[in-house]
Amino acid sequence: PSHCSASASSSALSDSNAPKQPFVIGVSGGTASGKTTVCDMIIQELHDHRVVLVNQDSFYRGLTPEESKRVHEYNFDHPDAFDTEQLLDCIQKLRGGQSYQVPIYDFKNHHRSSESFRQVNASDVIILEGILVFHDQRVRNLMNMKIFVDTDADVRLARRIRRDTVERGRDINSVLEQYAKFVKPAFDDFVLPSKKYADVIIPRGGDNHVAIDLIVQHIHTKLGQHDLCKIYPNVHVIQSTFQI
Ligand code: CTP
Repeated sequence: PSHCSASASSSALSDSNAPKQPFVIGVSGGTASGKTTVCDMIIQELHDHRVVLVNQDSFYRGLTPEESKRVHEYNFDHPDAFDTEQLLDCIQKLRGGQSYQVPIYDFKNHHRSSESFRQVNASDVIILEGILVFHDQRVRNLMNMKIFVDTDADVRLARRIRRDTVERGRDINSVLEQYAKFVKPAFDDFVLPSKKYADVIIPRGGDNHVAIDLIVQHIHTKLGQHDLCKIYPNVHVIQSTFQI
């Protein structure tokens, strides 16, 4: 529902200096479904707002020396591969208006840098993107809007082969092996079941300009209402009219 809290208080109307709370959007979908493209298109169209993108990939755990030796047996598609506590901390801080030092992850070496970080600053809109961002209920609960990018598995596999061989230093056999052993089963066990939490499902991902336009229009409307919720916390907004 698009309501703020319900009780009435005229004094709240004068509290126009209250900080706005960022609007948090979750973007999920299978590997190489086009999540990043969808996020980039949303960011472009929201040019009159400050928007930051946080990737769940940045919160991959580093591997132990033992795991590194047997990396072909490591399941990067299981929820346990991510440091969800740290992801949660990041989104909570950003939501509270604080900046956050987001880790930098290296897909070629399966390694998280311990020295370099990306500073993410407070913003109007926070977009959290990743294969399993709807898996943990606590992370889900921080989202104001959830989008699932739905792209056929054959299209995703074709993109993944190209991306992993060109950008992530893999050979085609290892990509296919990893896909059959871990990526596809985890998609069926964890990613697909989390689709039910989505508010919006976008077929064909970044190719779907109509869906992106509709979503951005909706975000603009919500940002307006959202700001009112914060500025006038005790006012009940129904269809753009105040009920006090
Ligand atoms: N992965 C990997 N090696 C690592 C870490 C992750 O191969 N060291 C893979 C996992 O198998 C997982 C994928 O990375 O399936 C997650 O990234 P993905 O969602 O495919 O990347 P995005 O660029 O976010 O996706 P999209 O194309 O949808 O934008």
